[in-house]
Amino acid sequence: MSRKLSHKNPTNLKTFYYGAPYYPEHWDAATREKDPERMAEAGFNVVRMAEFAWDLMEPREGEFDFSLFDETIARLGEKGIATILCTPTATPPRWLTRAHPDVLRVNADGVTMQHGSRQHACPSSPVFRAYSRAITRAMAEHFADNPHVVGWQTDNELNCHFSECHCENCQVAFREFLREKYHDDIAALNAGWGTAFWALTYSSFDEIQTPKNGKPAYANPAHLLDYARFISWNITRFQHEQVEILRAANSQWFITHNGTFRHIDYRGEFTQDLDFLGYDVYPFFDSDPTHRPFSQAFNLDHARAWSGNFMIPEQQSGPGGQGNYFHDNPEPEEIRRMAYTSIAHGADSLLFFRWRTCRFGAEEYWCGILDHDNIPRRRYEEIKQLGQELKLLGPEVLGTHVRVDVGVAAADMDVYDAHETLSLGLPSPWQIAALVHGFFYKRGYAVGCVHPADDLSGLKAYIIPHWALFNPEWVPNLTRFVENGGTLIVGARTATKDWNNNVIAETPPGVLASLVGARVAEYGRQNAPDKRPLAINFPKAKVPTVHWYEQLDVLPGGAVMARWEGRLHLERKPAVMMKKTGAGAALYVGTYFTEEILEQLLPALQERNGLAPLWPSAPEGIHVVVRENHEKRLWFFINDSDGFVSFENIPEGEDLAKPRITGKFYLMRNEVAVVKQLRVPTDSNG
Ligand code: GAL
Repeated sequence: MSRKLSHKNPTNLKTFYYGAPYYPEHWDAATREKDPERMAEAGFNVVRMAEFAWDLMEPREGEFDFSLFDETIARLGEKGIATILCTPTATPPRWLTRAHPDVLRVNADGVTMQHGSRQHACPSSPVFRAYSRAITRAMAEHFADNPHVVGWQTDNELNCHFSECHCENCQVAFREFLREKYHDDIAALNAGWGTAFWALTYSSFDEIQTPKNGKPAYANPAHLLDYARFISWNITRFQHEQVEILRAANSQWFITHNGTFRHIDYRGEFTQDLDFLGYDVYPFFDSDPTHRPFSQAFNLDHARAWSGNFMIPEQQSGPGGQGNYFHDNPEPEEIRRMAYTSIAHGADSLLFFRWRTCRFGAEEYWCGILDHDNIPRRRYEEIKQLGQELKLLGPEVLGTHVRVDVGVAAADMDVYDAHETLSLGLPSPWQIAALVHGFFYKRGYAVGCVHPADDLSGLKAYIIPHWALFNPEWVPNLTRFVENGGTLIVGARTATKDWNNNVIAETPPGVLASLVGARVAEYGRQNAPDKRPLAINFPKAKVPTVHWYEQLDVLPGGAVMARWEGRLHLERKPAVMMKKTGAGAALYVGTYFTEEILEQLLPALQERNGLAPLWPSAPEGIHVVVRENHEKRLWFFINDSDGFVSFENIPEGEDLAKPRITGKFYLMRNEVAVVKQLRVPTDSNG
């Protein structure tokens, strides 16, 4: 498969699907009676079903019963509601785990997982994989000609609860992965892992085990990273078997999966196997209502960085409660606003989790659209209102991508996992990307997350937070970006580790040194910045630093933009460098990004690249996002403030959500306006 994954890709959907995951297996026929009609009234055109119903569909080995789903799909179909089915492999039935206990996962303490919740079976198990293929094939063949089944979701949230398994099957599969990766050459593995350290040398692949960090001491970071890669490879292979079966049964179906979780490379084969990625949205895991709009926006932009626009198979529709937590109840119109936020940031379809709150099981307080008593209340009314609005807006967003002027490097599994193997107590690339994203989002810029191997054209600025692990293959793309006029900003510690997760032999930033015109002469951690404060002296301000300092040397073409201050041995030593190449420039910042530091870099972006907020006159509290293609531009104005906001000077065009009144938008708390503008061919932006 060679489909190019890019943040700019729309999905291939021709319909904006709107609906909910639906669990007919939880309810009696009388309670289900009105469901299709109520869903149709809410504007639904899809439901997702069956991801946890293996026990019902195959009550005994090899005996299949799809009657409940046949009937439900038909009743929904009569009301114009299509179905997305799921392979039910997140919850293998008891007859399977009882007959084959070796399918159960084992954690790092050697404890075997029990039947009794979900995700208890291991994708390394040949037995589990055979049963998974069998149920997938039985479902695929049974539903192949059902006109109401439009697509599939593989499994459910792979790696959500459990990914690092140490069962016997994983030992075998891990060795298989390593043999393939190192071409059966154990000397190559020893060299790649640096096994000379602590006498770790292996004489055969059969000796290798899955790593258990901290048991007893720190594990080898190269071993740990290869293990994370193995987990991704293994789950990709597991999913691929299902995808092959589904595609063979009906090539018209779309296939998706709802991510995103640890140890899966969603920029790799995992997603290339799918039509598009799914991304589940639960904003209330951020308990701070004032920060929630930022975390939701970042998470969505981050999800889009893997492969482009996505479907949302699950978006929060009520408070979630499980174990020892219970979210705040979304206030009136909050669910609707958060759905608009998802659409603005790249959703090409959206389903609310879930239709009706279940009365039993581990998620009996995970609230859906309808309450336990099956009475539609304000959540239903709100979702119905959005259903009406989406009749107009839904088709308009398809085929558009989200505009990005400032890209933040994100969405690389290897980089994230490498950080976890040896973090030095420093913030993760993910955390800093969120900080950088929030800085620009708050100020109204079109900020997004973009992988360094992706299409960088159209971006004015590109920021790489602190990516210690770095692939030299990305350098030509970054160089081209700079030559074409872009401004690249590279943060400290970037490109200090090779792809094996070992430290590079060259002086940092290694493969990036000549592009940024700087070299790191000395570096250090700042564990007590209040006791020995350091600061960078920018032309307009002196900014204290945290976490890390780097004293830089100037390479040919490099110019010093700011210098260190605070400790005698660093006094006036270069801290921030810039080098011009072609029409653009690359900056190197010898510390960790903070809002204060970004504030000092912003003028360079404004002057060099004409970087400006999307809609400069938008008032505070209104977040602006643009989706566009060569024909049109859709402006989203989202009232994320806690109060009423009105503003004039708004784009000309057709109002797709809230109509303007005498040229002004009056947006109550949680309200959203969307303006559609047609683009003229000379319009060059985006
Ligand atoms: C998702 C999951 C659903 C449900 C929901 C609420 O992560 O896919 O099955 O568990 O969370 O907890």
